[in-house]
Amino acid sequence: MKVFVISLGGSVVTEDPLDMKFIGTFGRMISSMPKDLKFGIVIGGGKLARSYIKALRESGVNENILDEVGINATRMNALAVSTFIEDSNTKIPTTVNEAAEMMRIYRCVVMGGTEPGHTTDTVSALLAERTGAKVLINGTSVTGVYERDPRKYRNAKQIRKLSYDEAIKMSMEGSLGAGPSVFMDVTSLAIAKRSGIRIEVIHGKDLDQYRKIIAGEEHTGTSIS
Ligand code: UTP
Repeated sequence: MKVFVISLGGSVVTEDPLDMKFIGTFGRMISSMPKDLKFGIVIGGGKLARSYIKALRESGVNENILDEVGINATRMNALAVSTFIEDSNTKIPTTVNEAAEMMRIYRCVVMGGTEPGHTTDTVSALLAERTGAKVLINGTSVTGVYERDPRKYRNAKQIRKLSYDEAIKMSMEGSLGAGPSVFMDVTSLAIAKRSGIRIEVIHGKDLDQYRKIIAGEEHTGTSIS
């Protein structure tokens, strides 16, 4: 059975509070995919996580607890999304192991974070590794990986292909300053590298890009391999 893992950044599914139009169309797209495909979908925390973490951090709350709060936000978003996908779980798994087990039952398993210290990028790479997925689709708020942050630099150019090592170097450089803004964290890239999982970074709201990648066609995002 062929498995695709999709990491959906929180910014793709959340608004104030949720982008219900997108969640509905995304759910219909996954539900209509060929029945011999399985999906593991990992949802980020988005605005819900950010607003809670910001408020609590300003009051001096411990970083580990902030991560736990973020994890709960990702799970709430995951439950919201799973509701709109046919043949998917309604109990959100708390570990990658549990998610992999659930994949024996459901065609699509939706989850959020697992434990403090990393982001849902790492969860999605671990889920891809565990389930033997060859491709990890990372749906973000921009159309791929750029030389510089396209939200800050209007002329920033998108990169079409990156090696794992180039991507790891870029992610490390982007993580240095305060308030990191990187396309994927270093741990997730290192996991993809060790297991040869191709990462396709696309705009998370562009449904055509998912369709093309799943059909094995060219897309306009960034491939990391
Ligand atoms: P996200 O994965 O959404 O983090 O998890 P992010 O990259 O900061 O946010 P996006 O990409 O803009 O949506 C939200 C927060 O939840 C905690 C972290 O604090 C993270 O910043 N988290 C998430 C964990 O501690 N462990 C996990 O496995 C997942």
